[in-house]
Amino acid sequence: MVMPTYIFLILKNPVLFSQIGCLLTSRFTFILAAVGSAVGLGNIWRFPYIMGQNGGAIFLIVYLVLILTICFIPLFAELAVGKITKKECIGAYESINPKFKFLGFLNPLTGILISSFYFIVGGWIIDYIYLSIADTKIADYGDYFGFFTQNSVSACAFTLIFLLMCILFTARGVKKGIEFANYVLMPLFAVILVCLIIFSLNLPNAKLGLEYMFKPDFSKINAQMFLAALGQALFTLSIGMGALLTYGSYIKEDKNITKSTYTIIFSDTLFALMAGIMIFPAIFSFGLEPSSGAGLVFITIPQIFAQIPHGNIVSAAFFILLLAAAITSGISIIEVPIASMVERWKLTRGKACLILFCIISVFSIPATLSFGILSGFKILDKNIFDFLDFITSSVLMPINALFLCIIAGWFLKIRGEHFIQNKIIAKLFDIGLKYVVPIILIALLYIGLK
Ligand code: PFF
Repeated sequence: MVMPTYIFLILKNPVLFSQIGCLLTSRFTFILAAVGSAVGLGNIWRFPYIMGQNGGAIFLIVYLVLILTICFIPLFAELAVGKITKKECIGAYESINPKFKFLGFLNPLTGILISSFYFIVGGWIIDYIYLSIADTKIADYGDYFGFFTQNSVSACAFTLIFLLMCILFTARGVKKGIEFANYVLMPLFAVILVCLIIFSLNLPNAKLGLEYMFKPDFSKINAQMFLAALGQALFTLSIGMGALLTYGSYIKEDKNITKSTYTIIFSDTLFALMAGIMIFPAIFSFGLEPSSGAGLVFITIPQIFAQIPHGNIVSAAFFILLLAAAITSGISIIEVPIASMVERWKLTRGKACLILFCIISVFSIPATLSFGILSGFKILDKNIFDFLDFITSSVLMPINALFLCIIAGWFLKIRGEHFIQNKIIAKLFDIGLKYVVPIILIALLYIGLK
């Protein structure tokens, strides 16, 4: 019998554990870390604003269909490639075939570009925590979000503080931090979201927000909306930039990744839906515009807190818990280039973190300034921040996911029967991985970018 390629790879490659890797070997910790990577700003900040820009309920339907029918396949495949090759991103693709090394580089590059805008939003959170603790009613400031993001010095400072926090957590090893954030803080975050949902649903005109979210308007269908939904699905599940591959490479042989895949999808979708149900009723109640862009959540939420007795305390708690969720995702983004630098180029973790801090700063400072002094600078009609967001989630992540499926299905020959007990589902998985998902990804990229 011919030995499947992946068994050969397992035998050939030594197990490479980095600092985080040693800590992710227990399945429970691994799932916590993977869920921590998925649940973050993508759910609370990005999901409502992308949905608001793409027609509400109709976007939600396409998004959910993509998650349930398509995205679980590359998610599973990414974990499997990591688990099988036991290497960081570049080494993983190179070990399958040296010709695929370029893809290994494309993944951390995508991660660096994502960091350049993700860490800016992390900075906004820190600012809102500061204001909440200082007992400042953000809502009283009118367009505080506009005012704050235009202030170049403070916006850059907060971006760098968030970046530094993630880098320090990563540099110092994060087992306790990841476990605490995901095991204790994530459920607390869910509780605070449920309380805010109840409050939001009782606001005047809340019904309009629910209709916007759940009553589809089919006239809003367009090609870009499909690509935006795909981009959001990949972004929120952390697929297509090597984060899950890197975490997957730390899993021990006997661990079942099928269950992990379901857990990641379930928890991530739950948090996104909760964020939507909290935000949209409030948007309509306060007469705000759902399509107002990246600031949507940061403009809307202070208005909710302004109506709650002791709103500042609730606001501080909300943003602190959101910060924890953002940090566990931020760590997973930077872990990809760090794992490559440590395992491939044998840098110490500290040095790798320092180099990455400098690289991400170079990209994220102009992106931060795109709300202020660089606001006139446009690429493809978008400011630098929006351009980075678009190019990563709607172009690079789908391309990475496409290559991932092709390589996993055709070259690494990952087969459902090795992971999934139900024979029919296993067969469907194979067809999805080899044919259906690549074709759909190509089609969505084509119609969305045409
Ligand atoms: N999924 C994260 C979120 O929703 O906030 C963001 C993210 C993490 C994207 C890791 C990509 C990634 F590799």
